[in-house]
Amino acid sequence: MAYSPSPSRYSTMVYNNCGHSGLKLPAISLGLWHNFGGVDPFDIARDMIFAAFDAGITHFDLANNYGPPPGSAEENFGKILSNYLKAYRDEIIISTKAGYKMWEGPYGDWSSRKYLLASLDQSLRRMKLDYVDIFYSHRPDPDTPLEETMGALDHAVRQGKALYAGISNYNPEQTARAAEILRRMDTPCLIHQPKYSMFERQAEQGLLDVLEKEGIGLIAFSPLAQGLLSDRYLKGIPEGSRAAKVHGFLKKNDITPEILIKIKKLNDIAARRGQSLAQMAIAWLLKDKRVTSVLIGSSSVQQLKSNLAALDKPDFNPFELKEIERVLEE
Ligand SMILES: NC(=O)c1ccc[n+]([C@@H]2O[C@H](COP(=O)([O-])OP(=O)(O)OC[C@H]3O[C@@H](n4cnc5c(N)ncnc54)[C@H](OP(=O)(O)O)[C@@H]3O)[C@@H](O)[C@H]2O)c1
Repeated sequence: MAYSPSPSRYSTMVYNNCGHSGLKLPAISLGLWHNFGGVDPFDIARDMIFAAFDAGITHFDLANNYGPPPGSAEENFGKILSNYLKAYRDEIIISTKAGYKMWEGPYGDWSSRKYLLASLDQSLRRMKLDYVDIFYSHRPDPDTPLEETMGALDHAVRQGKALYAGISNYNPEQTARAAEILRRMDTPCLIHQPKYSMFERQAEQGLLDVLEKEGIGLIAFSPLAQGLLSDRYLKGIPEGSRAAKVHGFLKKNDITPEILIKIKKLNDIAARRGQSLAQMAIAWLLKDKRVTSVLIGSSSVQQLKSNLAALDKPDFNPFELKEIERVLEE
């Protein structure tokens, strides 16, 4: 099978500067946490990457442990890249991370220099790459000095194995310290990747302010709360959905009657705005200019294309915002 990207791929996507850096990221990026692993149909995974790139999604987010099995999302992405997208490497921003358990023993988890740098080498091998664009510390490690973890990110950048450094799941205080340590090493912290959605608003408790002050970009993960912020579960738990899969991180008992009432009300607000709930959830995050990119997941080309249409209706009037707030606070 041959692939040539759409010639109009840059005509509709919005690109935002990542914090104070010169790097522009698409307003919508694609994450490979679910649906790109060894257990998933390869053809669908490949077609989603093609559809994303055709629509101007230039940023693909991975981590060492994405699969299942761990590592297989990077292997599959490497296959797609080397078979079809090799000529476009300079048009693509690839990120990976280390911080969660990847291999046995004391050097395959958390955030020591030993683990991070060995893991990055493994990720590069799996993806058949010379470098990634962004290398993240996936989570803070209470047993490793922050200086050591940030030193590993700085080293990866100096080695040319990563172009930029990022952090994920760090709280505001840890973020400010990490930014300061990285600044001292002349490797600025490019980006923070927190969980952020209508249902998960911890980032508003200080993190957004720190990022703005430090000039760090924000890419919001699980913007649909793993699919809850859509019409996916309005009529039960469909076969093949994330909540129905044994390896899905969304659990059946996350879908409570209380959350379903909220989802239904939000779905009605979205319908009145003339968009789907998933589209409204994405647009709602992007209304804050401190949000560089919204990092969606997808299990089909159809979902991906539908979510991209969030960019067609980005504005909210004050009444809509109040209505949404009221539902979320109930
Ligand atoms: N840094 C971290 O610690 C961390 C943690 C988690 C995720 N992430 C990153 O964030 C990315 C996105 O996370 P996520 O997959 O949880 O994001 P999400 O966008 O909140 O959820 C994606 C899931 O929602 C469902 N969905 C998407 N569009 C839909 C639509 N239009 N209608 C109905 N259902 C729809 C699909 O589930 P179905 O399978 O049910 O179709 C899809 O797989 C990950 O791939 C990863 O790159 C990072």
